[in-house]
Amino acid sequence: MKRTRAQFVTILAAVLVPALTHAGKGEEILQSQCSSCHALSKPEDTSLDRLLNRKGPDLYYAGVKFNKEWLVRWLQAPTRIRPAGVMYRKVVKAGPAGSADVVDESLLPSHMKLSAEDAAAAAEALAALGADSPLVTKGAFKGGAPNVMMASLLFNKLRGCSSCHAAKPGEPPHSGPELYTAGDRLKPDFVAEYIRDPQKFDPHIWMPKLELNDGDIQKLTGYLMTLKQEGGK
Ligand code: HEC
Ligand code: HEC
Repeated sequence: MKRTRAQFVTILAAVLVPALTHAGKGEEILQSQCSSCHALSKPEDTSLDRLLNRKGPDLYYAGVKFNKEWLVRWLQAPTRIRPAGVMYRKVVKAGPAGSADVVDESLLPSHMKLSAEDAAAAAEALAALGADSPLVTKGAFKGGAPNVMMASLLFNKLRGCSSCHAAKPGEPPHSGPELYTAGDRLKPDFVAEYIRDPQKFDPHIWMPKLELNDGDIQKLTGYLMTLKQEGGK
């Protein structure tokens, strides 16, 4: 079959364009496959209703939140981050008297998977989101190795983080994202800013503003950065 000039140009473009616009391809994936569930730009609607009805977490500041290497891996083989989804009240049932609530797994769909190539392109595009966002200040985490015992005491006992977040796979709290992969997944400056003021990220998010002093914020962030366990489903 003889190809027309237009077909030839299309074929040439199909070969050249992916090489030239890796990020362009990622943006297209985000728009066409992800935007139905995730906010890719700052939502104008900041009501409680929006938060309660959103289908997935906000990604408009993904570039300052996630490590890109983690994104590439997770998008190919997603594990569960929020043990009871984005809105735990919808999937948690009261357990037998005196025991913990039970997650109705049938109400939690698995996350879609991308091919290695699409995951790399989507991660590239996600890494560009929120680069100039005022939400996260560079240097919010001042670095330094934490005293793990002291920080884990803060996390588990003194500041109550463990009532909502699991620091080890298989622990019960359902209402917050697991943090046992935090060191692989999250950027330290994001963690420090989030712990300082969760409502800066969403005015209605139900993580309380715990009025922590900077010393505690630094210790907790340093501690969370040491958590790099696998084990999600
Ligand atoms: C049907 C809705 C839906 C679609 C479509 C969808 N996601 Fe998600 N996504 C979710 C939900 C729900 C979660 C929360 C999963 C969890 O916490 O375990 C999530 C979590 C994520 C996370 C982790 C976010 C965080 O704050 O922890 C990333 C990154 C992500 N999705 C990227 C994508 C990309 C990229 C696409 C498109 C290729 C996509 N998602 C398509 C619903 C969706
Ligand atoms: C009442 C429950 C609750 C308590 C207590 C709590 N959190 Fe949270 N935390 C949440 C919720 C809910 C989110 C946001 C979930 C979302 O965006 O889907 C969150 C988000 C986070 C995040 C961002 C993680 C991510 O993947 O998006 C970090 C880091 C964090 N919390 C650390 C802490 C630390 C440290 C403490 C203790 C000082 C703490 N939290 C106390 C409920 C809680």
